[in-house]
Amino acid sequence: MLKNGQTPKVFQEPRDFHAPRAFFGRKSGKRMLRGQQELFDELLPNLEIDLANNNIDIKKIFPNREKIILEIGYGGGEHLARKAIENPEIGVIGCEGFTGGIGKLLQQIKTHNIKNIRLFSDDAIKLLNAMDNKSIDEIYLLYPDPWPKKKHNKRRFVSKMTLDEMAKVLKPKGQFHFATDIEDYANWTLAHILRHKYFTHNLNKPLFWHQPFIGWQATRYEKKAKKEGRDKSFYFTFEKHLF
Ligand SMILES: C[S@@+](CC[C@H](N)C(=O)[O-])C[C@H]1O[C@@H](n2cnc3c(N)ncnc32)[C@H](O)[C@@H]1O
Repeated sequence: MLKNGQTPKVFQEPRDFHAPRAFFGRKSGKRMLRGQQELFDELLPNLEIDLANNNIDIKKIFPNREKIILEIGYGGGEHLARKAIENPEIGVIGCEGFTGGIGKLLQQIKTHNIKNIRLFSDDAIKLLNAMDNKSIDEIYLLYPDPWPKKKHNKRRFVSKMTLDEMAKVLKPKGQFHFATDIEDYANWTLAHILRHKYFTHNLNKPLFWHQPFIGWQATRYEKKAKKEGRDKSFYFTFEKHLF
């Protein structure tokens, strides 16, 4: 905290969820192959979540599923698809704006005939903002874009504003799982969590910070980081207070 009780600048963010933002590294890559375009045309419209005047009813999207998980920035979707296949009884929501990644996930949905995934193909903050309170059991944010330059730090996904939104949509005792290979982003996230009134943590044992989540398989980005020599990832799970 600053001396006069003000919050440091980095924690003060606009709450206009529909203003153009620079969170994404990129939205589209190479031109789409024909097969991918077909998947976009045939599959995506049935899976895409409609913001419906900013009011998403999760019970309507997944009528008979007790547990719902959300993955933000799923990249190629390998983690998301695996969660959905291994747990056919749960509902899985994936959020990603990069067309190359969306195409890869659609291919997996088709190949494995996955029925319990719904997608949102734009900025996750818009989705969080439109979701019901207390509707999600777990949120995954795996290897978010690190924005390592100081002047770009404000583009990082973790912020006071996004934590507020995540706390809102999580059920009491719901979990927020976060992984990164960038120490500065791990510190950044811990600093935000420690200041946030709705998340609890068990961070007393730094050695455990490098222990992957139960049942973990490296994501595409984690494999890339390891190849580039960043082989000590951080894995955190935070829990929302009862409220
Ligand atoms: C570094 S990649 C990691 C991908 C994947 N989680 C993995 O571990 O392989 C980060 C991804 O987050 C997506 N992303 C960044 N900001 C986002 C946002 N605000 N909403 C949804 N996705 C976002 C990017 O498009 C990118 O695909």
